[in-house]
Amino acid sequence: MSFDEIIDRRGSHCVKWDMMEALYGVSPEDGVSMWVADMDFRPPGCIQDAVQAMLDHGVYGYFGDDSKYRAAICWWMAERHGWNVDPSHIFTTHGLVNGTAMCVDTFTDEGDGVVLFTPVYHAFAKVIRAANRDLRELEMAQDGGRYVLDFDAFDAQMTGNEKMLILCSPHNPGGRVWTRAELEGVAEFARRHDLIIVSDEIHHDLVMPGQRHIPMTKIDGIADRLVMMTAATKTFNIAGAHVGNVIIADDALRARFAARMAALGMSPNSFGLFMVTAAYSPAGAEWLDNLRDYIAENARIFDAGINAIPGLRSMALEATYLAWVDFEGTGMTQEEFTDRVTGHAKIAVNYGPTFGTGGDSFLRFNLAAPRAVIEDAVARMQKAFGDLQ
Ligand SMILES: Cc1ncc(COP(=O)(O)O)c(C=O)c1O
Repeated sequence: MSFDEIIDRRGSHCVKWDMMEALYGVSPEDGVSMWVADMDFRPPGCIQDAVQAMLDHGVYGYFGDDSKYRAAICWWMAERHGWNVDPSHIFTTHGLVNGTAMCVDTFTDEGDGVVLFTPVYHAFAKVIRAANRDLRELEMAQDGGRYVLDFDAFDAQMTGNEKMLILCSPHNPGGRVWTRAELEGVAEFARRHDLIIVSDEIHHDLVMPGQRHIPMTKIDGIADRLVMMTAATKTFNIAGAHVGNVIIADDALRARFAARMAALGMSPNSFGLFMVTAAYSPAGAEWLDNLRDYIAENARIFDAGINAIPGLRSMALEATYLAWVDFEGTGMTQEEFTDRVTGHAKIAVNYGPTFGTGGDSFLRFNLAAPRAVIEDAVARMQKAFGDLQ
């Protein structure tokens, strides 16, 4: 397949293009959609074939026997991440926002503090607030233009009421792949403050060439407080399938989670299970390696074009396809730079403040699009900020 193909998604009920006008005031007629983390590519043929086989069969009854599905997940985690998963430790949720909500619901009570390292994926805060938990935002520092975790500063802000940390690894936005030393720091921080760690690793497959993601489960001394979350949906662009995995090795935590799943009557949708089983395969892996090279080149082109505009800075991506661009150097107000991007360049992007403390001077651009779209976006941005040249 060619990632260069422009697929017109307008009118297909996709949130990225069909909601851009309502949400960002950018018309899909002459605008570019670069917000939500959803790629403008078709998934690999192995997934299309699996869906086609379902359609050809044509009966969509209840799903039974998920052993192949579990085996595919275990194969992928071992093959791609060096992580041996026990198939009985896997839960299937309706995606990882749902997985996060389930963890907050299961492992904390109303009023408990839940910690985030911000700026971070906005749905975490939404879920925490909606569940009447105390959102504890710990703002990350920057060192050499990339985010770092300052645990002394974090310690000083803890109140003693916190029960859980939701870690985003790799990090969205900002694209950090946390190093082993950083993850060990997270583990020590969690032990010091007696926190359950929910590690959202949805972007773990989307690391840049040369980068190596370390699953949190590889860090010693936290097995009794760790909940892992992974999904095939970002990796293969099947987010509409709403399928994700919560993987819990600790018996006590797993029993509590299982009880909550049962109490809520949760069970997965068969389309998602078929897609994931097909995706986690050698054919899926080959497609992913090509995708990663393509995105890396998109990021190179985007960063070169954006960083050439005085006052703009696109953070170097170690993972994800989400460029995090800082407009602070322009001296413009948030309203002005946002208006230039959405109003003049006509690009729909995610607003920085939605990612929490530390996001105010940023906008997030999705680079998982055909090369021509990235080049067009760079040209639009250079024009919209042309007076700064
Ligand atoms: C860190 C992170 N977690 C979860 C999600 C969404 O997960 P799901 O679609 O499985 O609910 C996203 C989507 O961008 C994300 O970036």
